[in-house]
Amino acid sequence: MKDARPSLTAAWVAAARTFGTLLPPELQLAHDPYGAAFAKAYLPERLAGSRLGRALAVRPGLGTWVLYMQIRTRVLDDHVRAFIVAHPRGQLVLLGAGYDCRALRLAELANVPVFEIDHPATQQRKQRVLGKLGATSPAHYVAWDFEQPMSELVGALVAAGFERNLPSLTIWEGVTMYLSEGAIDASLRAVHAWCAPGSQLAMTYFERTRIEQPSPMMRLVRTVVRAGGEPFVWGWQAEELPPYLAARGYTVRENRSLDEAARDHWPPEVAAIVQARGSRYCLAEPI
Ligand SMILES: C[S@@+](CC[C@H](N)C(=O)[O-])C[C@H]1O[C@@H](n2cnc3c(N)ncnc32)[C@H](O)[C@@H]1O
Repeated sequence: MKDARPSLTAAWVAAARTFGTLLPPELQLAHDPYGAAFAKAYLPERLAGSRLGRALAVRPGLGTWVLYMQIRTRVLDDHVRAFIVAHPRGQLVLLGAGYDCRALRLAELANVPVFEIDHPATQQRKQRVLGKLGATSPAHYVAWDFEQPMSELVGALVAAGFERNLPSLTIWEGVTMYLSEGAIDASLRAVHAWCAPGSQLAMTYFERTRIEQPSPMMRLVRTVVRAGGEPFVWGWQAEELPPYLAARGYTVRENRSLDEAARDHWPPEVAAIVQARGSRYCLAEPI
């Protein structure tokens, strides 16, 4: 991402979360009342809550974006809930938190320490926007550039209150596709260093073919994110990820496409709008 500029992609995905409210109630899987505020300058405000907005939200185009973020958010929210039930004293780390407002919107996290790590430019903007909304997040903020050495990150996390002897769930959502391989490798080693027994890593990723041989829709998205200074650069084919993670001390528990997850929740004609071929999530545990 371009130095000193807050992430644009973080704003777009946050807005898409809020736009879930345009869907018919039976299709809504996650609710984020904060997200649209981060993309205010880029959004036609009249769309939110309008009849046109509601019609577009269930059609390819706007619907692809809104439904995709609903399923991605829900899959990870479910992992958060399951982790907290299993580890009531657990901690949540959002690696590349962007404008993720789980610390504010998930009631289950009321007594769970949440640590948000992100680029200083994005993080400062997040605090400013939340401040303007009058929303006080209980999250602990740690500013970091993942392209800089990662070995010291665990120290910064501990300085922010993280307890290394307690289990943690690290969420790495919508970040891996923007990082260099060096930053990916260093991040996985950094996460491993803060994982006490019982810890987990939940991440999303693109298959390389989604970046290199994009569908017409993905070609458009790829052009837009590149123009915004955040090009897609990294992906794994689904079968490559388990050995890659094993080499860094993790075992994979789940490795699924978001299309499959969409079919778990929605009728086939709605799930088909998501077009998430090659967009996947993985749950891994340190060995
Ligand atoms: C698409 S956003 C996803 C944000 C959030 N996880 C979500 O799903 O809403 C990508 C995030 O990665 C962060 N990011 C990208 N490159 C980074 C870097 N080199 N150092 C720190 N953060 C970075 C951006 O600031 C941004 O918040």
